[in-house]
Amino acid sequence: MASIYDRADIYDLIEDEKRFSFNQRHWQIVLEGKEIHSLLDVSIGSGSLTLPLAGLGVELFGSDLSASMLTRCEKKAAARGIPITLKQSDFRTVSACFDRQFDCVASTGNSLPHVSNSDALKTLAEMDCLVKPGGWLYFDMRNWDKILRERQRFYLYNPFFDGDTRINLVQVWDYHDDGTMTFNLLYTFERDRRIVQKEVFSERYHPISKTLLLDQLEKLEYGEIEERNYPAMQTIQPGTEPDWYCVIARKGKANAD
Ligand SMILES: C[S@@+](CC[C@H](N)C(=O)[O-])C[C@H]1O[C@@H](n2cnc3c(N)ncnc32)[C@H](O)[C@@H]1O
Repeated sequence: MASIYDRADIYDLIEDEKRFSFNQRHWQIVLEGKEIHSLLDVSIGSGSLTLPLAGLGVELFGSDLSASMLTRCEKKAAARGIPITLKQSDFRTVSACFDRQFDCVASTGNSLPHVSNSDALKTLAEMDCLVKPGGWLYFDMRNWDKILRERQRFYLYNPFFDGDTRINLVQVWDYHDDGTMTFNLLYTFERDRRIVQKEVFSERYHPISKTLLLDQLEKLEYGEIEERNYPAMQTIQPGTEPDWYCVIARKGKANAD
C-alpha cells in the first residue's frame, strides 16, 4: 500500500495560513521562558509544525527519512524566505548526521511510533546526543494509551479545499493482533458535487505508552519535564485526557535542581 510520505503534495493539502499561525502559537507557549535559538526536528516531514518556529527567532535544522517530504519542506521554506538546513536521515541513527549540538532537538507530528517501541526509545537517546548541555528535548504524540483503550476505528476530518476542489479525509484505524496498528487514509476529491479522484494510503504504527517515553527521559537524566496538550493553547482539564500531547524536558537533572 502507498505511503502518504511519498505524496507530500497530498499530505500538505490540509495546510493553510491558519494552521501555520496555529502552530506558531503552540510553540510560543511551549518555548516561553526557555533560551532556544536553534532547533533540530528529526522528523520534520514537510515542515508544517516546524517552519512556524522561524518567526520566533529560532534557527531551523531538520531531518527525515522521506525525500519527498524533505523536498516539499525545502520548497515551502524557500517560498517563505526561511533559512533551513535539511538532511535525509533515519532518526534511529540521526546523531551520525550532524556534527554539532542544538538548544532543542524535537520529533514532531507523532512520528516516533513509526518504529518499534525499543527503536523509539533508542531514538530518544540518539536525539539526546544532539542536545546541548542544559538544552531541551521535545516530542509530540498521539495519546496511544487512550487509543488502545477506546479502540476508535473512524477518525473524521472536516473537509478542506484546494481552489474549487473539496477534499474529504477519513482515517480508518486497524488494530492488529501483534499490537501494531495501521492507519488507512482515505481521500476523496470532489468538484461540482462529483468525486473526481480517490487516493488511499496506509501507515503502520507501533503504539507507545506515555510512561515508557517519560521513563526513558528520566533514564537519560532529563529534568523539568513539562507535559501539555498539543496544541498547547488548549489546557488539559482535570479528569480528562488529551488526544494528543507534547513533552519538553531539560537535559541534565542538575539544571532542574
Ligand atoms: C506524521 S509525519 C509528521 C511530519 C511533520 N513533523 C509534521 O508534523 O507534519 C511523520 C514523519 O516521520 C517520518 N519518519 C517515519 N519514520 C522515520 C524514521 N525512521 N526516521 C526519520 N523519519 C521518519 C516520515 O517520513 C514523516 O515525514
